[in-house]
Amino acid sequence: MDRIIIFDTTLRDGEQSPGASMNAAEKLRLSRQLEKLGVDAIEAGFPAASAGDFEAVKLISEKIKHTQVTALARASRADIDLAWDAIREAVHPRIHTFIATSDIHMEHKLKMTRDQVVEAAVEAVRHAKKFTDNVEFSAEDGSRSNRDFLCRIFEAVIGAGATTVNLPDTVGYAMPDEFEELISYILENTSNIHSTVLSVHCHDDLGLATANTLAGLKAGARQAEVTINGIGERAGNTSLEELVMGLYTRKEHVALTTGINTREIYPTSRLVSMTTGIVVQPNKAVVGANAFAHEAGIHQDGVLKNRMTYEIMQPETVGLVSNRLVLGKHSGRHAFKQKLGELGYDLTEEELNRLFEKFKDLADKRKEILDEDIEVLLAEEILRVPDVYRLEYLNVVSGTVAVPTATVKLWIRGQEAQNAGFGVGPIDATFNTIAKMTGTRSELLRFSVNAISGGMDAQGEVIVRLKENGLVALGKGGDPDIITASAKAYINGLNRLEYMKRNPSLVPEERNL
Ligand code: KIV
Ligand code: ZN
Repeated sequence: MDRIIIFDTTLRDGEQSPGASMNAAEKLRLSRQLEKLGVDAIEAGFPAASAGDFEAVKLISEKIKHTQVTALARASRADIDLAWDAIREAVHPRIHTFIATSDIHMEHKLKMTRDQVVEAAVEAVRHAKKFTDNVEFSAEDGSRSNRDFLCRIFEAVIGAGATTVNLPDTVGYAMPDEFEELISYILENTSNIHSTVLSVHCHDDLGLATANTLAGLKAGARQAEVTINGIGERAGNTSLEELVMGLYTRKEHVALTTGINTREIYPTSRLVSMTTGIVVQPNKAVVGANAFAHEAGIHQDGVLKNRMTYEIMQPETVGLVSNRLVLGKHSGRHAFKQKLGELGYDLTEEELNRLFEKFKDLADKRKEILDEDIEVLLAEEILRVPDVYRLEYLNVVSGTVAVPTATVKLWIRGQEAQNAGFGVGPIDATFNTIAKMTGTRSELLRFSVNAISGGMDAQGEVIVRLKENGLVALGKGGDPDIITASAKAYINGLNRLEYMKRNPSLVPEERNL
């Protein structure tokens, strides 16, 4: 079987999803999980896009030892120099340079002729080769480019030393049969193509990203560019989990394999969702909450008789362990530590002790503590930035006749403060009061409440996105009481905004491209 190279671009193209920006520490944590998952290359970012991106790529390059670390650069010396500065410490660095090749992009965006584009691409690859042997070239908007021009530019950049050439379906326009044919054409008509790896990079604007990637691999491409949960620019990219499980489940049909440890798929999906705040839709293939849930009576009956009647893959294979270690109030520190390890977190003794205390408090209130509950605790206690504001007390009055009123006690920079306020509902009253007390003027861009697990004692998980003075921060909070969970999320968001104000270099600013 042929082995496919899995190039993960969650931290670069995935981060281009609206509102998905991550700070350097978050990106590093995800890189470690991607390495555990077994991807071959991690595209860590686009150093020329912002100072925050540069710092994140640099940090990942210093810490990741086994997986290739890639930095993206436009076909310009300045971008490539910055990309190299960011990845020079990586054990396995790769520079990924790109330029658009479709007539519409060349004429209207670049205002360059075909000859000029070929020259810029060759020059970029030659420049990148001075730093590393591992150079990838992408023909942006490749699927809408003239096919003979694609062969011409690929031949030229391979001649200049490109070790991977990538064909993106940048705007998600291709159809699978057409894309397969295009890849075959390139393989047949680019004289030196077999001395390099041909890659595909598909977007999901028509919901065909995975189908197109499979079609490209069927035609002979041997690298697939993907993201976890399919996040990415606009409708997103090919989702790693769909592609990998497609190849795994239908191996006799496709005869292609990957180096992915499929049991790490679900933990990685959770971590990406927790980090970006982008909730996975329940019916999402492979990792959605309903992906292995059987609702119809006939289906349940069938599965009980033989799982294969309605299950084409086992939940355990993607790391959704049905006999998951469910923790409760009798669970000890050892089981708790083991659970954290399963979820991909390696905490210091001090962090472990702090989290264990919080876990015990929650276990006193609830019968069972699920993985999702622990992730909320992690988000509140460990992943959070140092607190400027901390909730001490919240009392809310609301109902069909009462004017919603919140009384809040907060710690603000170490000082206790108390105040009360009104709103159109209990959450509005709570947020208004907190905003008044902290003197903050953030705008609430997103607010979502999810019940973690079923049952009347389910814990509520709240995610908010706040914007203040051009900075955008995510806040998360969990509690069996959703108004308290909302207050915690709001305060967590305000603390992140404060942190961003104090550490501007760690903030992925608005991209300047
Ligand atoms: O979609 C695209 O064309 C890209 C390139 C930069 C590879 O993301
Ligand atoms: Zn892309």
